[in-house]
Amino acid sequence: MPDFRKKSEFLDAYSKFYPFLRPYLAMAVLGLLLTAPVGALDAVIAWFLKPFMDNLMVERQEEFSRWVPFIIVGFTIIQGVFIYLSAWVNGYVGNRITLDLRRKLFAKLLRMDTGYFDANDSGTILFRYFNDAEQAATGLISNIKLFLTKFFSSVALVGVLIWNSWHLTIIALAVMLFIILPMSIVRKKIKKIMKKTMVLSSAILNLYGEVASGNRVIKSYNLNRHMMDSFEEAAQGSFKMSMKMIRDTNWLSPFMHIVASVGVALVIACGGYMIVNGIITSGTFVSFLAALIMLYTPLKSIGNNYIQVQQSIVALGRIYEIFEVQTVTDAEELQEQSARKPELREIRDAIEFREVHFAYNPENEVLRGVSFRAPKSSSVALVGNSGGGKSTIVSLLPRLYEVTGGQILIDGRDIREYSLTSLRDSIAYVFQDNFLFNTTIEENIRIARPEASDAEMRAALEGACLTEFIDALPDGLSTEIGEHGTRLSGGQRQRIAIARAFIKNAPIVILDEATSALDNKAEKIVQEALANLMKNRTVFIIAHRLSTIENSSRILVINDGRIAEEGTHEELMARKGAYFSLHNVKAAAAGPAPENATAEV
Ligand SMILES: Nc1ncnc2c1ncn2[C@@H]1O[C@H](COP(=O)(O)OP(=O)(O)OP(=O)(O)O)[C@@H](O)[C@H]1O
Ligand SMILES: [Mg+2]
Repeated sequence: MPDFRKKSEFLDAYSKFYPFLRPYLAMAVLGLLLTAPVGALDAVIAWFLKPFMDNLMVERQEEFSRWVPFIIVGFTIIQGVFIYLSAWVNGYVGNRITLDLRRKLFAKLLRMDTGYFDANDSGTILFRYFNDAEQAATGLISNIKLFLTKFFSSVALVGVLIWNSWHLTIIALAVMLFIILPMSIVRKKIKKIMKKTMVLSSAILNLYGEVASGNRVIKSYNLNRHMMDSFEEAAQGSFKMSMKMIRDTNWLSPFMHIVASVGVALVIACGGYMIVNGIITSGTFVSFLAALIMLYTPLKSIGNNYIQVQQSIVALGRIYEIFEVQTVTDAEELQEQSARKPELREIRDAIEFREVHFAYNPENEVLRGVSFRAPKSSSVALVGNSGGGKSTIVSLLPRLYEVTGGQILIDGRDIREYSLTSLRDSIAYVFQDNFLFNTTIEENIRIARPEASDAEMRAALEGACLTEFIDALPDGLSTEIGEHGTRLSGGQRQRIAIARAFIKNAPIVILDEATSALDNKAEKIVQEALANLMKNRTVFIIAHRLSTIENSSRILVINDGRIAEEGTHEELMARKGAYFSLHNVKAAAAGPAPENATAEV
């Protein structure tokens, strides 16, 4: 039974591979057809040894020797042309499939849920999405090719063997049966080792990323040693795994060598006896032996070939694990195909959170029944202790995460009922830690709405208090800002994110600590602009600096995943509860003139 399972696993891998092969099937078949003569031509040379030996060596026909060398070189030239053509065709197919796999994997990566990126580090993503595609595609293609070349050559050579002497053929082939068991042992080992290799390689890739993006922390905390140690550990582990792979699998080739030499030895022993007794001619024997040695040569390397095929199959299996993940975006697209969901264009009535529960991990509930209403064009401020759940609440609105209980409604309809694209199109979001792309300032802003006019662009820059800064730059808007905007100050990065939200011109605005990194002057200007932006829009604003939210229509104090208090600034101050003490603590910490400072904006 285990043998059957093994076969089905192999077939399973190729059937998964087939959809990717199908567009290039004609090319692939051509590649294989070109491969066939390459293998079979080997046999011609072996086959030729018989007339050569018998006619020339034994019967001394000299004229035979004149054309044999030409034939051999001629065949080899033909073989060479075929080898080149088949390498080209197979290479094309392999690389095209790698391209398709990478493209499909990248598209899938873009659709993965936010939680997936919480759970998987960038090293794992690089390894699984970049490495595996190549290993699976080119690995399988080039190995199918090698496998088949060897297969065709083997078939032709076995033909030569049988043609020469079927007695000796039985001996030679019987010996080969001894290689089947070790192949299945090796297969199991490969699977195990590759799993560990992936973990270690991902860890190494991660470290490169950390050095690149964390180099300032690494330098200022003198972490070179620490990073080196982490690297050493992963790299040594990876080295050990590579050696384990070699140790546990590479005995396959020498083992096959030994099996082959036993076969050759037996054939020589029996063949000698048969020549002496006149059962076969010496020409037959030499031809047989040459074919046998040629047959065993690919057999010996088929060991390595087999290891690579197994590795490709493991890689392909991992790729399919990724394809099989059901993401929110996938599910949405599927639903969209069957029935178009209504688009969210504007808000007519209100946004409502109804008994919303949420947990990042099942064992730890972060939001525990949050209910509130944000009427159209109002502004809702969320304040409260750090880690209370403010950012979490607003991240549920564009469905970065799905509620685990309760509902979020827009105009009385669950947000899950609107088309996801239109929902996200309706929200301009300034995050607590904004991501900037490694490109120009202009592109980083315009990305939110590429069709925005120049006037809108200027208004966005003005509103985000960026005009002065950009005018002073020699390259202006075309200034490259580096990875994560590393060439900018924290406040400049934040203002670019605000400009991005401005230009999006969406009916819902989420500002999560949007002005926390600005100086007083910039904050004042941005606040005024935001006040403009907030007109006619439904706004969620999170701020630790309470002065920035006093004018909000409604203030929610979020503590421990619950709404501890809610009301307007005046109501909450009069209540002398959580907001009041929060306000006083912050005001006292702000300096000697708290009254003025908080009343300013
Ligand atoms: N991606 C995540 N995976 C798991 N837990 C998370 C994740 N993001 C946040 N948390 C946890 O959820 C809780 C609420 O976090 P959240 O970011 O919503 O707090 P916050 O009120 O915005 O705090 P702050 O004022 O410091 O920004 C915290 O305990 C935090 O540790
Ligand atoms: Mg937060």
